[in-house]
Amino acid sequence: MLKKKERYVVAVVGATGAVGNEMVKTLDQRDFPVERLKLFASERSEGKIMEFRNKDILVEPLNNNSFEGIDIALFSAGAERSKTWAPVAAQSNCIVVDNSSQWRMDPEVPLVVPEVNPYDLKWHKGIIANPNCSTIQMVVVLKPLHDAAKIKRVVVTTFQAVSGTGQKAIDELLQQTADLLNFKEVKCNVYPYQIAFNVLPHIDKFLENGYTKEEMKMVNETKKIIGDNSIRITATTVRVPVFRCHSESLNIETEKKLTANEVRAILSQAPGVIVYDAPDKNIYPIPIDAAGKDETYVGRIREDDSIENGINMWIVADNLRKGAALNAVQIAEKLIEMA
Ligand SMILES: NC(=O)c1ccc[n+]([C@@H]2O[C@H](COP(=O)([O-])OP(=O)(O)OC[C@H]3O[C@@H](n4cnc5c(N)ncnc54)[C@H](OP(=O)(O)O)[C@@H]3O)[C@@H](O)[C@H]2O)c1
Repeated sequence: MLKKKERYVVAVVGATGAVGNEMVKTLDQRDFPVERLKLFASERSEGKIMEFRNKDILVEPLNNNSFEGIDIALFSAGAERSKTWAPVAAQSNCIVVDNSSQWRMDPEVPLVVPEVNPYDLKWHKGIIANPNCSTIQMVVVLKPLHDAAKIKRVVVTTFQAVSGTGQKAIDELLQQTADLLNFKEVKCNVYPYQIAFNVLPHIDKFLENGYTKEEMKMVNETKKIIGDNSIRITATTVRVPVFRCHSESLNIETEKKLTANEVRAILSQAPGVIVYDAPDKNIYPIPIDAAGKDETYVGRIREDDSIENGINMWIVADNLRKGAALNAVQIAEKLIEMA
């Protein structure tokens, strides 16, 4: 468990990446009580300098002694690095909040969204997993509806930004867009097809059951976070040429009937959720409005006439903030609250 202190020594592992950069920003913006910040990345970034609270910080490669004296480490350097280094950090009494998929479904590791299951932080053994970005924004909306009316089934289709793949994908969308507008040939390095002016129904690897790993993450992680294996979920995950913010179309079937107005009332009270829903004024969530924001925006709330107890909605959140960096920092804040 974390010892109560005035300020903490914090590390960001993968600091030069899309999520790592956002973590450094988020720690600053939320006035996180940082005594000292250590930044780690690969050997490619050795010697790079990043700024935090008007101080230059040297980016370092990891070694076996990197975590000595560090209280909390926010990891966002990919599953392989988490597999190797999170246990090393935990051995040094450093609590790891890990953004990768490495530990999420490990029964010994809590998978936490602070608005949904903060109580699971009590049983961590040194590593806490941050869920997948598309799962986080979905569960902050599902949990209050599940508490009110017990969710039976969810059908979700996602429209996911390229920043969900990391910095290289952001660069690829920019480059392809510029090349196409200049009548140049397009190069594809990150995705199997051109992503500029295109839509790919393919996120992460295909599995034997025909789903992708991303789709199965949404199914399995949701059950673990909400703590109810009886919820049936089916997902289709789609990459779209948007830089930031994932959008999701949700169809939810509940045991107890909820009207659209009841759903609006429940979600208006839900932590981390903003109901943004006035179709008569063209008000609904869109990525360019939600970018850089902390909350999950919900709109297009309507009853599904094709089933007895069904609700449709559209939700948008910033994948780099609530989907990654912010959720990790909120977990660290909760740990401090509980210390
Ligand atoms: N992007 C999202 O929306 C999102 C959301 C939830 C979770 N995640 C997860 O967060 C992790 C990072 O994602 P990202 O989008 O930020 O990727 P990214 O932009 O590609 O950044 C990857 C980071 O990992 C570092 N790294 C690579 N190899 C390393 C090594 N051997 N030792 C130390 N650091 C190393 C990179 O350092 P260099 O710059 O030196 O290469 C870079 O800082 C992934 O596990 C991803 O699944 C991402």
